[in-house]
Amino acid sequence: MATKERTVLLVGGAGYVGSVITGHLLRAGWRVRCLDQLIYKNESCAWPYLSDPHYEFIHGDIRDPRFVNQALKGVDDVVILAGLVGDPITSKYPDESHAINRNGVGSFIDAARHHPIERLIFVSTCSNYGLVEEDKAVDENYPLSPLSLYAKHKVEMEQKILALKGQVGFHPTVLRFATAFGLSSRMRFDLTVNEFVRELHLGNELLVFDPKTWRPYCHVRDFARAIEEVLRASTNKVAFEVFNVGCDENNFTKLMVVEEILKHIPRSKVTYQERGTDPRNYRVNFDKIHRVLNFTPQISVQRGISEILAALRQGLFDRVEEQRHFFGNYEVFLPAAPIPDLKMAV
Ligand SMILES: NC(=O)c1ccc[n+]([C@@H]2O[C@H](COP(=O)([O-])OP(=O)(O)OC[C@H]3O[C@@H](n4cnc5c(N)ncnc54)[C@H](O)[C@@H]3O)[C@@H](O)[C@H]2O)c1
Repeated sequence: MATKERTVLLVGGAGYVGSVITGHLLRAGWRVRCLDQLIYKNESCAWPYLSDPHYEFIHGDIRDPRFVNQALKGVDDVVILAGLVGDPITSKYPDESHAINRNGVGSFIDAARHHPIERLIFVSTCSNYGLVEEDKAVDENYPLSPLSLYAKHKVEMEQKILALKGQVGFHPTVLRFATAFGLSSRMRFDLTVNEFVRELHLGNELLVFDPKTWRPYCHVRDFARAIEEVLRASTNKVAFEVFNVGCDENNFTKLMVVEEILKHIPRSKVTYQERGTDPRNYRVNFDKIHRVLNFTPQISVQRGISEILAALRQGLFDRVEEQRHFFGNYEVFLPAAPIPDLKMAV
């Protein structure tokens, strides 16, 4: 598919993953429009792109029909990233999570049906698999068992999208992302690899819960490549399909992540404790995205660790504590005014 003149709407495009996708797609020749409510006061994530004539930013909430319809007007493709992301923030703000991750995303999908878009990518999560007791890597057909509010809403939205077959003009794809790591202009230090590297770099004692639990990881720049691959792929390969996004080589236990970091910072203090608060344990099979789209992530956890460490050592993240709300999903800043009902305005 030619990229010339194509406009992609990134909903939640000023976040940790979205900021990296933005730069990637602009460099690859796409026009990018971002709709984002900047709930972490993350406006600086739009700054690097403002001088690019192919970039447009709309500051607005996914639940507000005025902004949704403005954002959807004239775009070819849509990538939905927005929401409260992660188990901790959704447990801290259950009402807001329900309003945004379920009702907001749901209404946005309904609104998209009234616009002549071609592709819609819903970014979901491998957390949807929950606790996998068996010693196997799970593929896209493995029964979903979401344990958190975060994953439950993701599963609901996946089901809503996949049920649209035969009813909509656009071609949706669900991407279940592994846990992200790597540098972004909206750096998140609340994600395992990023957090562990920073804590050990600072010389803090690291307490690791359930060190033997497996989790798949993927670099943010590889996610950006995956999005581009799906947007470019022929419709018959991606329409109404679900893909896990990651690679077998980046299935790591927390202990393995720590051991990689200790190669750089050997005299660190790490303690391990069983039975933490996060019951997820899963290894994921990524054969499908490789087989169908010939997509393989290029950046290893090891390389990601080196890259983050190099940036930390250059003092590029020395003021994280002063702006804690920006560098992780700990606290949200949402508009106080009531938001009109999206369905009414479509
Ligand atoms: N980061 C990961 O490890 C990871 C793993 C699996 C899946 N994902 C998925 O990738 C996507 C992006 O994750 P991220 O790490 O970049 O998260 P993030 O929290 O950094 O970004 C989310 C963005 O959505 C925006 N947003 C939130 N509520 C909004 C609303 N009501 N209206 C408009 N914008 C709103 C925020 O301002 C933020 O810029 C999410 O859908 C997430 O579920 C992420």
